[in-house]
Amino acid sequence: MGPLLLLGSALLCSYFQLGRVVNAKESFVIESIALSIEPHTNVPRNTNVTLRCKIKVIQGSEVLSREYGLYKDNEIIYNKTTSSSEDFLYHLPEVRVSNNGRYYCMITIQGAQKTSETERLAVTGLSKPVLRINQSNFTEGEEISAWCSAPGESGPLLFYYYDNSKEIRLHHMNYDTSMAKMRLKDVGRHNIHCSYTVVLKTESVKSVESNTVTVAVRELSITPVLEISPQDNIYEGDRLSITCTVSDFHQSSLNTELILSQENLMLSRGNWYVNYSMIAPTSATHTFQCMLMVGSVRKVDTKSVPVKELFSVPTLTMAPLEVFQRETMTLTCRSDRVAHERLDRSELNYTLFPVDSLIPRSSGLFFGKALLNDFNYTCAARAKGIEKSSKTLTVRPKVFISTPEISVHGRVILGQPFQILCLSVRGSLPITYTLFKDYQQIGKAIVQYPHDQALFTVTVNHTREINKFICEANNKINNKEGVLSRALNATVIVPLGRPVLSVVPNQQDLSEGNNLNLICTVNGTPPITFRWYREGDAQPVSTTTSDRNFKDYEVSVLSKEHSGKYFCEAENRANNKVRSKLISIEVHMAQWKKALIWGVILLVVSVLVLVGCVLYFKSKRVRVDGTSVSVWSERKPESDNDEESTVSNEPDVEYTEVVHPRSADPARAPLKKGTDTVYSELQNVPHGAVDHHDYGSVEYADQNGDQPETGQYHPESNNYPDLPVPVD
Ligand SMILES: *[C@@H]1O[C@H](CO)[C@@H](O)[C@H](O)[C@H]1NC(C)=O
Ligand SMILES: *[C@@H]1O[C@H](CO)[C@@H](O)[C@H](O)[C@H]1NC(C)=O
Ligand SMILES: *[C@@H]1O[C@H](CO)[C@@H](O)[C@H](O)[C@H]1NC(C)=O
Ligand SMILES: *[C@@H]1O[C@H](CO)[C@@H](O)[C@H](O)[C@H]1NC(C)=O
Ligand SMILES: *[C@@H]1O[C@H](CO)[C@@H](O)[C@H](O)[C@H]1NC(C)=O
Repeated sequence: MGPLLLLGSALLCSYFQLGRVVNAKESFVIESIALSIEPHTNVPRNTNVTLRCKIKVIQGSEVLSREYGLYKDNEIIYNKTTSSSEDFLYHLPEVRVSNNGRYYCMITIQGAQKTSETERLAVTGLSKPVLRINQSNFTEGEEISAWCSAPGESGPLLFYYYDNSKEIRLHHMNYDTSMAKMRLKDVGRHNIHCSYTVVLKTESVKSVESNTVTVAVRELSITPVLEISPQDNIYEGDRLSITCTVSDFHQSSLNTELILSQENLMLSRGNWYVNYSMIAPTSATHTFQCMLMVGSVRKVDTKSVPVKELFSVPTLTMAPLEVFQRETMTLTCRSDRVAHERLDRSELNYTLFPVDSLIPRSSGLFFGKALLNDFNYTCAARAKGIEKSSKTLTVRPKVFISTPEISVHGRVILGQPFQILCLSVRGSLPITYTLFKDYQQIGKAIVQYPHDQALFTVTVNHTREINKFICEANNKINNKEGVLSRALNATVIVPLGRPVLSVVPNQQDLSEGNNLNLICTVNGTPPITFRWYREGDAQPVSTTTSDRNFKDYEVSVLSKEHSGKYFCEAENRANNKVRSKLISIEVHMAQWKKALIWGVILLVVSVLVLVGCVLYFKSKRVRVDGTSVSVWSERKPESDNDEESTVSNEPDVEYTEVVHPRSADPARAPLKKGTDTVYSELQNVPHGAVDHHDYGSVEYADQNGDQPETGQYHPESNNYPDLPVPVD
């Protein structure tokens, strides 16, 4: 029982495994399928070849329908359904190279398939191609017909045509013959042959060369003829007659065409004869061409025609060379060269465009006023049907220049470089600016573009020099008659000299309770900022700005605490800070205090004297009485140090300048001529001649006698040395 069960299950397994081959109901098995090529797989051309497909099927008695398929290079080429169990045969009679390929066969029985192995058929040998040409003599440009055939060959074929070994044409055909139409380019003998290739799926096989056919191509006998009259001495405006013909009219069988052209411009065309008439164009050498076309043949005849100039292109000029707005001008239109043998100058006609813009005066002259804006003019000269235009003349009327303004650019500091700007608000560019000083040219600047500026860098060493600058602007071509500006007017800032600090009242009168004025005086251009410092302090005790050259700082009620050393500092727009020397201030005790002390002393002395006398007289009487008392021994010693304060002679205080009230006698003034102090000179000037200020009341005492500063008070400085205001 066990082995039987095993066999059953094995059968069942094999049934499912071979399910496609073994049918459960009509059980059959395709045992094998094989393809063979007879007589051989490598055969020469023309062999009768048979493909045999042999199948072995194991089956029962029932009849099976067999489906055969034959494949070449994986494409089916034949199929057949039969119930016969004989071999399946496929005949390839008289094989060709086109039969080459890889073959296999396949069988299908009731859905079950089996495929044979692949066999490769190789046929050798191709037929020799044959070339035929319908004619052996041609005229150039003529078309020829050529046939190339591959006798007995089949399959897709490629035909090649060769002219003197050069491949000239390729044809793809499915038949064994190809026909090509072609034109042989060159005149002469041509050896033509052809060949072909059998194109298979996986390979292509090339044939041998065909027979060679020799073809003669002869030149076309007719040529184009170009004739132009007159032949020479042609001037612009002359009439030209041009003909374009063929050399031999009798070959009328040919289909010809003629084209007449000048450079690339076609003038006319025709079949056998072209005539054309024209006015000789502007002077130059012109090339005409007559072209003959026969089929694809092109033959040309060209001629160059030198055309002489009748008159030159006119030029339009303006006189004068530049005009300003609304100024009169003359425009001249003129052809410089005229062929006198053909043309009289009087025959030339000139026209100005736009017409009527100016008045014509005589031939070529036009007169009128320049407009306000740019304007374009052209002119034309005309004679014998020829017209020539000048180039455009753009008249650009200039704008008259306005009076230039002269000004300084920035601050003017004596002795330092600064810039002077010259500017005309109106006027056409370019403008030439010239800077003069004392009518001597010292600089020149040309302003080409708007926004450019004429700036000159100069230096003045004297305040009066500033007014000597003047500038000139000019925008005329010849730079004649420029426009002058006014003289430069600007403030010259004189840098400050060393300031002098002086004290009012006199040093001896500096007592407690009095006024004190510290007057700072300096040379240089106001406004001036004055600062007073007490030595040792970081901050000034006072700061003020004045439009004059001096300023005072007043302490109204002096006290002992105001004693100390002082100096002043000055600064102006020239940006230099200058300082005076130190001055020492010593405040004395008030007069009334001294008087009081003296009074007390006197009183005490008087009392003591009185008491002494009394005691003396009493003692005379007492000596009588035998007793005596000394009053003097009780008297206290006097002490009074207040009187000792004096002006201290500190080593760093070099001088002290004191201003006295007027009461002083001018003759008594201790001024030294040698130091040239202005103040001393002012005193010599009659009262009120210089100023209404009561300067006569001021006396300067030069204690040390060596003040360099005072030397700066030159008479020229009178512009600003506002001298100290009288002090109350
Ligand atoms: C090939 O077969 C053709 C008939 O189909 C026959 O005429 C010819 O003689 C055969 N050629 C050879 C070489 O047997
Ligand atoms: C030869 O072929 C060309 C082009 O097809 C044709 O124009 C010409 O008439 C042919 N010549 C002859 C003699 O047939
Ligand atoms: C061109 O030739 C024809 C005759 O062939 C003539 O009638 C005609 O006037 C000629 N034209 C010119 C422009 O010469
Ligand atoms: C003048 O002609 C020039 C070109 O030649 C052109 O650019 C310009 O705009 C013209 N000016 C006027 C005012 O017509
Ligand atoms: C110079 O300029 C000042 C102020 O800018 C003016 O007061 C003075 O009149 C001018 N002087 C001249 C000569 O123009």
